[in-house]
Amino acid sequence: MNFQYWPYRKIPDAEIATTHLVASNTVHLICFLIKETLMKTEYSSITALPSWQALQNHYQEIKDHHLRELFQDDPLRGERLFVEATDLYLDYSKNRITDQTIQLLLQLANECHLKERIEAMFVGQKINTTEDRAALHTALRAPKDASITVDGKNVVPEIHDVLDKMSDFCDKVRSGMWLGHTGKPIRSIVNIGIGGSDLGPVMAYEALKFYSDRKLTFRFVSNIDATDLVEATLDLDPAETLFIVSSKTFTTLETMTNARSAKDWLQKSLGTDPQAIAKHFVAVSTNAEEVTKFGIDTNHMFGFWDWVGGRYSMDSAIGLSTMLAIGPENFQKLLNGFREMDDHFRSAPFEQNMPVLMGLLSIWYINFFGAQTVAVLPYECYLKRFPAYLQQLTMESNGKHIKLNGQPVDYNTGALYWGEPGTNGQHSFYQLIHQGTHLIPCDFIAFDQALNKLEHHHDMLVANVFAQAEALAFGKTIEEVKMEGVADSLAPHRVFEGNRPSNTILVKRLTPESLGKLVALYEHIVFTQGAIWNINSFDQWGVELGKALAQQIIPELENPQEPVLHHDDSTNTLIQYYRKYRK
Ligand code: F6P
Repeated sequence: MNFQYWPYRKIPDAEIATTHLVASNTVHLICFLIKETLMKTEYSSITALPSWQALQNHYQEIKDHHLRELFQDDPLRGERLFVEATDLYLDYSKNRITDQTIQLLLQLANECHLKERIEAMFVGQKINTTEDRAALHTALRAPKDASITVDGKNVVPEIHDVLDKMSDFCDKVRSGMWLGHTGKPIRSIVNIGIGGSDLGPVMAYEALKFYSDRKLTFRFVSNIDATDLVEATLDLDPAETLFIVSSKTFTTLETMTNARSAKDWLQKSLGTDPQAIAKHFVAVSTNAEEVTKFGIDTNHMFGFWDWVGGRYSMDSAIGLSTMLAIGPENFQKLLNGFREMDDHFRSAPFEQNMPVLMGLLSIWYINFFGAQTVAVLPYECYLKRFPAYLQQLTMESNGKHIKLNGQPVDYNTGALYWGEPGTNGQHSFYQLIHQGTHLIPCDFIAFDQALNKLEHHHDMLVANVFAQAEALAFGKTIEEVKMEGVADSLAPHRVFEGNRPSNTILVKRLTPESLGKLVALYEHIVFTQGAIWNINSFDQWGVELGKALAQQIIPELENPQEPVLHHDDSTNTLIQYYRKYRK
């Protein structure tokens, strides 16, 4: 076989032989079968696949069809094109598709060996090839009796040990048993982290605020801009404050700088006794050595593993602040929600598989219609940070232009994900989605039941979801506009072309379980996209260059002597200008 097209790492013969020896072990057997199948994955580019070419031809046939016609020709499409899974309901009938589109997209998934790739992820194969790691966030929500092996070791018991340690700690803090250095109980919790060590915790805290202990105050500090830490701590009493330093690597510039400044803030008030740090700082990390160097006892460290990517870590110990807010029982429910969606993704046939269908539909728009973005529009204020969370999940995962085989792609990959909670967005950017020149597929997310009940509010909120999806799909023709008596000169401005596609996801109620399902849904959409695009969704080399250059520039800004600069002329001039005016 030609390993150039091998989507994952080359499998040494010895390993295959070993796999035979332990064939009684089902996991190994599955791994072997997957490897066998993937060995057949030899395509130079997805654009050469028969399904891709058929989709290109099909796009030519369908691109001028309006959703109005699609509904006229298929009046029961709304009752047909839906998936109900894990208590989530997806209406995908307002997409620019026919049954043939779905058939071709499913064929594409099969030609890209999506099934085998999903299985490879779940069984812990090192699918993150550039870092030689598994991507096993799904193990974080596996039941206690599951067995998932990484490098010959079942990782499930360790996961549950950490969960137990987290629960124990959270119970102590929430009950007031965990006392600060001066004997006061903890009232404020500050999570210091960035990227996946911040966006998941802050999103989950906001999303599940309804279930949180309101006696505790939560703050999240991520930015290296001093304002973030200063404002977050301004009204806090150090004697009642607990810092969680969350960093997978424990070397990230922003987090470590903020953590050191937080330490100074605390020590100014409580003194330099190491006991003060012990009572007011805990760490979430994979790097025990750096945690110890910082001065945090590893007994107060909550670990996770290199096979958990930052943007896939909110259900690991990185969720410590979430567990403190909602309690261990609710955290377990969150994990159960993740797990239900995992089971669905792994086992449901693709034609009824929610993440697979949504992933394939996004491919349809990105690669065939040339869409550059996807809007995610949750009609729920508690989900206000959900789009920001999804930005890292989707764009850090699939913002790649190199395939698994090291060759550049010859098709578009990761779209820009963005959004705002409804109805606020309607009074700002929806104008462009309705009447602009860009095609922006939308995911509407709504809940059947409100958490906070004020008469009429929820029905009005949900009416807006349905109205927006309907308006986007069907629009308003010039004839309809004129029938309303609009002057000819104004009529073109009042036309809505329609034919703007959307998905509508209905969830019964926002709960820890349903949040877990929603997050896992998007994790698996991202996986589906990455598998089709044949890229590594689990590395993030694109953040490295800027980080390295910043490290070089910091001393150039702070140097009391005029430094000799070796950047380009623009960067040199900016540095000189800044140095002139900085205090
Ligand atoms: O932005 C790059 C990144 O590595 C993210 O993937 C990660 O979530 C973030 O930095 C924070 O990293 P750490 O948890 O190691 O501080």
